[in-house]
Amino acid sequence: MAGLLLSGVLKTHLSLSICLITAMNDNGNLYADLSGYYDQFCAEVDYAEQCAFAERAFECFALSDGRDYLDLACGTGQHLLHMLNRGFVGTGLDNSAAMLKLAEARCPTAHFLLCDLAAFEQSAEFDLITCFLYSIHYSHPTSALQQTLLRAWRALKPGGLLLFNTVDAGGISNQRSTITGVVDGDVRLSFESGWRYRGEGETLDLLLGITRESPADGLKRWTDHHTMTAISLPQLQAMLADIGFEVTLLEHDYQRLLPWNGQSFNALVAARKA
Ligand SMILES: C[S@@+](CC[C@H](N)C(=O)[O-])C[C@H]1O[C@@H](n2cnc3c(N)ncnc32)[C@H](O)[C@@H]1O
Repeated sequence: MAGLLLSGVLKTHLSLSICLITAMNDNGNLYADLSGYYDQFCAEVDYAEQCAFAERAFECFALSDGRDYLDLACGTGQHLLHMLNRGFVGTGLDNSAAMLKLAEARCPTAHFLLCDLAAFEQSAEFDLITCFLYSIHYSHPTSALQQTLLRAWRALKPGGLLLFNTVDAGGISNQRSTITGVVDGDVRLSFESGWRYRGEGETLDLLLGITRESPADGLKRWTDHHTMTAISLPQLQAMLADIGFEVTLLEHDYQRLLPWNGQSFNALVAARKA
């Protein structure tokens, strides 16, 4: 655990393309000063499984035949690394310099864009674009989400695929939080996250809490509040179709490609550039 906090190796060769940034502030502690904790925060996320799913969906839905890949809100580069190992040529985009430092240390051969989700300007460069862990909802408000999807459409080659997971705001349970506990030597970490939705409007709140307890430093607690976009699945489907995507909704199941059952509030979206 020693040195985990701010453990990002300072870059000497980071090839960041700084593009027009509309919202450059780090979105909460976890993606800035506490970024060194992020991978432990996500200890229960099965990145290998999600990337196996991404490749299966790509083979099933995409019509372009290259392997040029962009991960939106790439964080510390965990999806990126798995996709590079699967033969994709990777680019990661994130608006947190701290997260990108960790991603670049993990994936030194990848290219990186320090950029807001709603502001990247690539054109017909990618066969596959992903955005996992519900990060597309970080495009806030709805007009920014619309921009993000439009820019993804422009950045795809014809026949390329945009793949992401999403939640219908109508299905948010305000009571539920996820808690992950990690023990690292004599340090105990606990991560808690929960969505809150007021039942109307376009704002979804993500509340995070991190607790760290060690004999040396005692008990410390940090909280984060992330503002995200609330949207319904039909609204999202219509937005994607208006942009020109051919949309397939899938059940939120990374082990199988199952058509959305019309009722689940979590879904995977496979949107092909026609
Ligand atoms: C929940 S993490 C997901 C990281 C990674 N996709 C994963 O699955 O581990 C969300 C990421 O989105 C980034 N982010 C939040 N708002 C953003 C925005 N408006 N533009 C670009 N990146 C953003 C954060 O810095 C963070 O790295």
